[in-house]
Amino acid sequence: MEQLQWGRRYVAVEPSHFRIEYAINPFMDVADQPDPALALAQWQAMVGAIEGLGGTVDVLTQRPDAPDMVYAMNLGLGLVRQDGSRHVVMSHMRYAERRMETLSAQPWFAGTGATTSYVGRDGVGAHLEAGDAFAFRGDLVVGHGPRTEELALKHLATELGVRVRGLRITHPGMYHLDLAFCPLDDRRALVCPSALDDASAAALLELVPEPLVLTEEEALTTFCANSVVVGRTVVMPACPDRVRAQLEEWGFEVVLVDVSEFHKGGGSIRCLTNPVDIALGRDLAVVPGGEVLLPA
Ligand code: ARG
Repeated sequence: MEQLQWGRRYVAVEPSHFRIEYAINPFMDVADQPDPALALAQWQAMVGAIEGLGGTVDVLTQRPDAPDMVYAMNLGLGLVRQDGSRHVVMSHMRYAERRMETLSAQPWFAGTGATTSYVGRDGVGAHLEAGDAFAFRGDLVVGHGPRTEELALKHLATELGVRVRGLRITHPGMYHLDLAFCPLDDRRALVCPSALDDASAAALLELVPEPLVLTEEEALTTFCANSVVVGRTVVMPACPDRVRAQLEEWGFEVVLVDVSEFHKGGGSIRCLTNPVDIALGRDLAVVPGGEVLLPA
């Protein structure tokens, strides 16, 4: 079993203006606000856990007018080209409430030396939210429906020269693929098929040789799929006993970090972190011209 080669370098946004100002997913309720001090302490513990495992976390400043910017996963899709240069495809958020986040994130990524591009912006063109995208077994697996639009898949495939496997998300509570899917190594992943339509659920179960299948309830009430993997360690917000037993049998170590304040905004550990070390030619196979595969 080959462990994941990516997942050691992250970008995150320190929560200095995190609040629930609007409701764009079923978890958000403006009457249920996070405690700012507790949220910051939880975020710091999460960063500490990742760093303790040998990962690095670069930190961006939160815009005061962007309460959801803490969910750094959705700022953009970062990749390392074969010559070692870095590129970020910026997200084009479905909801206008989040679009200003990219206005700060784009110059920040550019300032780190990355080139940037977009598939749509300012409400024009395809929506893309990077929380929907994963490298797995050489392909870019991308959820579409509630947030990312199917049109974005074609743009990603063509621009990056990769194979994109589209999965249609139908569950309103699992509005990003990262609430229902978490690659663990080159053969295994946490998978919650009830997030997807029947054809996409079947396609994902076929793509993952050894799936750890989550029930809808496990995924929605514990956010356990919204985890990050650093080598053989899975950093999780919570882990049902059954899931832990399987992970440990497979040789993974589970590290729990409580980020419950961030569940009020509808995101957990994976949403709060954005891996920027996914490499073309290593984690994603080079497919000249690109290709999009959709379940029949
Ligand atoms: N409130 C944010 C939104 O609805 C949460 C984002 C969660 N992030 C993620 N990668 N699933 O957009």
